[in-house]
Amino acid sequence: MKKLVVANWKMNKNGKECLQFLQEFKAKYTNQADAWIAPQSLYVKLVVDSGIKAGIQNCSEFIHGAYTGEISSRTFKEMGGEFVILGHSERRQYFSETSKSLNAKVKTALAEGLKVIYCIGETLLEREANQTLSLMTDQLHQGLNDITTANVENLVIAYEPVWAIGTGKVATPAQAQEVHAHIRTVMKTKFPAFGEKVRILYGGSVKPDNVKELFGQKDIDGGLVGGASLKANDFLALCGDI
Ligand code: PGA
Repeated sequence: MKKLVVANWKMNKNGKECLQFLQEFKAKYTNQADAWIAPQSLYVKLVVDSGIKAGIQNCSEFIHGAYTGEISSRTFKEMGGEFVILGHSERRQYFSETSKSLNAKVKTALAEGLKVIYCIGETLLEREANQTLSLMTDQLHQGLNDITTANVENLVIAYEPVWAIGTGKVATPAQAQEVHAHIRTVMKTKFPAFGEKVRILYGGSVKPDNVKELFGQKDIDGGLVGGASLKANDFLALCGDI
């Protein structure tokens, strides 16, 4: 299966910087890995127009109505959007999202035909207390509760150890593989026909110099990338194009 490399630009890049990146990236991108980009929501149209799959970094659990400040997955889909990142640890940490509350967003986005990258991960304290695997099971069961097999095909899981995000501390390939294998087992139990092929991304300080080893692991199907996705050449390197 092709690797999937997803850029999470968080709250970075103005319009001019987005356009410059897209131009540089498209000049060398050969499609050997799937590349998706989630810019700040206000710039998604720039990514849509570039022909690269565009995403948002959060969406509402509601479709329309009196929800000031929210983004509707239906509206996003209508303007050519393809995917949404849900449950990123920064959303969990700063905006009080939990696996339970995220479940409604996951269901809405899938029902609207968006691809969903559902993020899970443990803190350093939780890892040191040996809770990583059981927590991943819980985060999967809670966030994906009651998902029908009809739209599960659009689901991608991202394992992002919180202690490795933006810190330069990367999980060793063996540490990541152990958790990815566990996630696949849980997914196979939950969704028998789909678990084997679900794409499980690793996120947390993925860079050109560690990508090969990480992506070489059996159950690592690509990456969700913050810092190293901001420079076109680094992102191209992650996609195997430099
Ligand atoms: P990082 O971020 O690559 O900068 O560690 C990953 C993420 O937040 O998804």
